[in-house]
Amino acid sequence: MFLRLVVWASALSVSLADIDNIFPILYASNPVAQHTACPVAAGEATVCRLSGYEENNGELQYLVTSLPSSGSLYETSQNYRTYGTDPKYAATSIKDYELPFRVTDPLGRVVYIPPSDVFPPEGRWAAMTYEVQDRVTGNISQPGQVSLSSPSQRVAESTFVGGTDSWTISGNIYATMPTWQAFGWGVLNRYIYGTDEVQYIDFDTNSDQSKWYFEAPPGKFYLPELAAAYNGTLKFTIASNYGDFDHLNNPLDFITLECASCNSARGLRLVRYADNGLEWKGQEKVMQVTLAAGNHWWRDPMNSALPFTDATECEMAAVLQGLTRVAILGDFTRAGEGVAVDDISISTATAQPSFPLACQQGCLCAHDQRQRRISCCGSDPSVYYPF
Ligand SMILES: *[C@@H]1O[C@H](CO)[C@@H](O)[C@H](O)[C@H]1NC(C)=O
Ligand SMILES: *[C@@H]1O[C@H](CO)[C@@H](O)[C@H](O)[C@H]1NC(C)=O
Repeated sequence: MFLRLVVWASALSVSLADIDNIFPILYASNPVAQHTACPVAAGEATVCRLSGYEENNGELQYLVTSLPSSGSLYETSQNYRTYGTDPKYAATSIKDYELPFRVTDPLGRVVYIPPSDVFPPEGRWAAMTYEVQDRVTGNISQPGQVSLSSPSQRVAESTFVGGTDSWTISGNIYATMPTWQAFGWGVLNRYIYGTDEVQYIDFDTNSDQSKWYFEAPPGKFYLPELAAAYNGTLKFTIASNYGDFDHLNNPLDFITLECASCNSARGLRLVRYADNGLEWKGQEKVMQVTLAAGNHWWRDPMNSALPFTDATECEMAAVLQGLTRVAILGDFTRAGEGVAVDDISISTATAQPSFPLACQQGCLCAHDQRQRRISCCGSDPSVYYPF
């Protein structure tokens, strides 16, 4: 009895602190169920093609592993497969108890029907996951995310038609909630508003030491299916009603994206400064930025001794897949300001899948170079600083 207890205790300590990677987390780099998105019009049965990859072009079995939480998912009908005619979908929908469901359409297509008599939602309708299995080796992929996006390819969105949509404000001492404005102002129509209430000036730089930000609500913006937004667009409207925009803070970290699970759970923060098209002097302006490497996103080294670096494709991709923070800077000026934002959205690129395949196959782990996982992106040995 005592011996069993000792064995059990030592097994527990090994699994809790697996410093030497005796039990590495298995991560399949091949085959790959590529993250994808399908825009769906209201009331319309929409064919969505899943997108599996196998490095030797091996034949794949598609498996639906979770169903959309609203609307229904169907197999394609025989007449659709053969003649491309309506109805596109089989007689009965796929049910929870059938999961994992083996898709019989050889092209890996399924049909999504959104909830009936409902307008398109803010952001996506729903999401689902799938996996692919190599028919010869039996190897199964990591889960692929499918975003059943709005007709305009949105996957996350706040238009503030009915309230603050759970957005919050950080960096202010008292006002942790923006105010909802139930009227129009220029192109802003029903929007959220925040003001600076602390000016905690750093006398060396003359900039605010503690800046305030609009913070996105987790339930709408921090979803794994936002992976499909790689190479898509983040967009919002912004305007200010007061503030001295001739005396700006520096730096102006306009947009911040963070992923807590990235970089082997050390976290990864990407910043887009108010430059290269995002300059702002307080006027009403629609800001739009592409969510892909090469669009002036910087990786924060989280170490003041190291420089910010250009965000790589996989850093950007991994952060989108594991988003835990989306923040928009309100604190532009060195003194106080009032800032309104509206119509904040993330949409996917039209061409799907757009999530970089190589990143989904996983990045080499700095702590164990035999391993490749997406959670290791950002700890790539080639850009790893040993200290
Ligand atoms: C299948 O998976 C096993 C275990 O993960 C791996 O050793 C093997 O190389 C894989 N086979 C192929 C063809 O990818
Ligand atoms: C990103 O999208 C643009 C069009 O919006 C397209 O031309 C380009 O090829 C895409 N890039 C990637 C890496 O998918």
